[in-house]
Amino acid sequence: MAARPMRACRQADGRGDVTFGPADCGDDIDRIMDVMAGSFAPEYGEAWNRRQVSDSLLLPGTRYCLIGADGSHELQSEEPTAGFALLRAIFDEEELLLFAVLPQYRGKGLGAALLTEVIASARTRGIQRLFLEMRTNNPAGKLYTGFGFKTIGVRPGYYRTASGARLDALSQELIIASN
Ligand SMILES: CC(C)(COP(=O)(O)OP(=O)(O)OC[C@H]1O[C@@H](n2cnc3c(N)ncnc32)[C@H](O)[C@@H]1OP(=O)(O)O)[C@@H](O)C(=O)NCCC(=O)NCCS
Repeated sequence: MAARPMRACRQADGRGDVTFGPADCGDDIDRIMDVMAGSFAPEYGEAWNRRQVSDSLLLPGTRYCLIGADGSHELQSEEPTAGFALLRAIFDEEELLLFAVLPQYRGKGLGAALLTEVIASARTRGIQRLFLEMRTNNPAGKLYTGFGFKTIGVRPGYYRTASGARLDALSQELIIASN
């Protein structure tokens, strides 16, 4: 693999500092899929497949952020990827579609560092509100609450687990101040 620096956040519509399409971010999709494969419990069916990820990156406003095992946002080719975030913006609102850190790198502040980067880059792009949706029993809720996300809606029984149990979905919002 060629040693080329990768930016922390890229987006498909050219509003940011890098414009790209799936054809020229294959290495990064590999990194995202490696994290995806190890991060989401199969019970909940939350992981996306490669096609879903690459197709999403064709849509205007879609971007992703990577974080390395050492917390770097400027990953070199040899550096392991610890986590990623995938987001889609429409006008001044953005949704956090996927967010994960591999289990072996958890509990070291990388999730918080990645979310800090996500929020900072959203603010730079003029995003006013950041949304996400999570299942009720996800411990990640503690992380989101710590960043100021508030629950603004509940979809009862929205998630169905592999064992057939139903879990509510919580819609959460973070108002992003402009300064
Ligand atoms: C959520 C996730 C990204 C957190 O990554 P992380 O690198 O462990 O997060 P951090 O180390 O930065 O933790 C930051 C804070 O979040 C909270 N937190 C994160 N994961 C937690 C967990 N499993 N249980 C309880 N609190 C948790 C804690 O408050 C923690 O602060 P503390 O260390 O001072 O207690 C990671 O657990 C993950 O990938 N989970 C599986 C995928 C997933 O569910 N993603 C969210 C979909 S909505």
